[in-house]
Amino acid sequence: MKVAESITEVRREVGLARETGKTVGLVPTMGALHEGHYSLMRAARQECDYVVVSIFVNPTQFAPGEDLAAYPRTFEADKTGCENEGVDLIFAPAVNEMYPRENLTWIDVDKMGTYLCGAARPGHFRGVCTVVAKLFNIVAPDIAYFGQKDAQQVAIIERMAADLNMPVEVRRCPTVREADGLALSSRNRYLNSEQRRQGLSLARALHAAEQMIGAGERNAGVIISAMKEIVEAEPEAAVDYISIVDSDLLRPVEIVAGKVLIALAVKIGPARLIDNILVDPAG
Ligand code: PAJ
Repeated sequence: MKVAESITEVRREVGLARETGKTVGLVPTMGALHEGHYSLMRAARQECDYVVVSIFVNPTQFAPGEDLAAYPRTFEADKTGCENEGVDLIFAPAVNEMYPRENLTWIDVDKMGTYLCGAARPGHFRGVCTVVAKLFNIVAPDIAYFGQKDAQQVAIIERMAADLNMPVEVRRCPTVREADGLALSSRNRYLNSEQRRQGLSLARALHAAEQMIGAGERNAGVIISAMKEIVEAEPEAAVDYISIVDSDLLRPVEIVAGKVLIALAVKIGPARLIDNILVDPAG
């Protein structure tokens, strides 16, 4: 496994792989790697001959006051983890390598960033799309891997790639959870054990919503109220949003008719946790 810090080196290494006819997979990450990230690497390893993992805490997707400075950085452990997964190349650029000058060119996907996390994090998806487009241009992968854990992110990236005819396939991989249901996240390490226990309420609320739809409930407001009650029973939980949106453009629905994304964001102590499920009332 090689580690490249410069764009020139990544292009050289990927170019060599391409010359021998290898297909290239890319897993973009911000490091602090866990089983969720490793599941994406395994999917890439299965499908592609040459696997690139990028590790870059992208400043343009953090708003002032968010956790950019505190975001966990665990490069040595990440490197060992990637090595164990059979990754071929880590791209770990410095901020100056990715943003050597004031950035004037941005990718903004209309409409889809308005609701859910977009409401509380203005500019967040603009930063995500811009850095992901840059990574696509640098690595030129055949396939790029993203987690359903960040449902809005992957939906927006799919739309960006389609709208801009980017020559890359975007793969959605399932959310990896702990045995008790907590979705894995780099931010879980901000939680103490009591807060972690309270964090289980997100998965519990999603499960309850799925059961209500299974039992015939179609009124989104009723489902959201039931979810809110479950989460707010936890003393430190502050709901940011609980939403039911159509799975295509992510607009809130009043009645669950087609496939919906049920998503929530909850602050528990120092961490803002997100989770979601896709539910098709047709079964
Ligand atoms: P990061 O939060 O490090 O996540 C990298 C990838 O891992 C994302 O596609 C995310 O959805 C996926 N992932 C995280 N937790 C997961 C879980 N429990 N199960 C499955 N997949 C999971 O998302 C980002 O970084 C950044 O926004 C990035 C796309 C790298 C752009 O900077």
